[in-house]
Amino acid sequence: MPVCETHDYVQAMKHSNKTFGVVLAIGMGVLSTGTLPANASAAVDGKIVFDKNCSVCHSIAPPPKSAPPILPISARYHQRFSSRAKGIKYMADFIKSPSKEKVLADQQAITRFGLMPPVPLNAEELNAVAAWVWDQNTGGNWGPGRGARQGNGYQR
Ligand code: HEC
Repeated sequence: MPVCETHDYVQAMKHSNKTFGVVLAIGMGVLSTGTLPANASAAVDGKIVFDKNCSVCHSIAPPPKSAPPILPISARYHQRFSSRAKGIKYMADFIKSPSKEKVLADQQAITRFGLMPPVPLNAEELNAVAAWVWDQNTGGNWGPGRGARQGNGYQR
């Protein structure tokens, strides 16, 4: 057993101890100031992705900015998909490459606002923001929803 190796390790620890302490203090500072949500389990926070990349066009609740608000969209997705995973997958794909054929929330929105431009996000961000949108549904009644009946529907 090479005793000196253990010794070197201890020495190294002593030397870098100060740095560790500082890093630890910063880390704890971040946690205690509440910059991170308490339940942050995912590496990417969907709400932050939304604020940065979507909120310029999408309000959360009506009135709309230059796109349909998130709550009615989320409600429509809940009507169309029984599974959270499927809804999120479809939405993530839409955000990455929107097309007229894919629109399922509200076909009239295209006439009113134009087709949404693709938002360049990585897979993790797409998934996080789609999950966040899905989770916004409050079960509220947003009216008969023209898109539900007049849209081309979800046919895949
Ligand atoms: C430049 C404005 C703009 C930005 C930025 C934008 N959107 Fe949109 N979005 C729209 C418009 C306009 C529509 C309605 C027309 C359509 O469906 O393409 C829409 C529709 C949608 C829909 C409904 C799709 C469906 O199935 O009918 C979802 C979901 C959505 N956006 C999510 C997002 C998310 C999440 C982001 C951010 C990552 C985002 N959007 C960024 C303009 C925008």
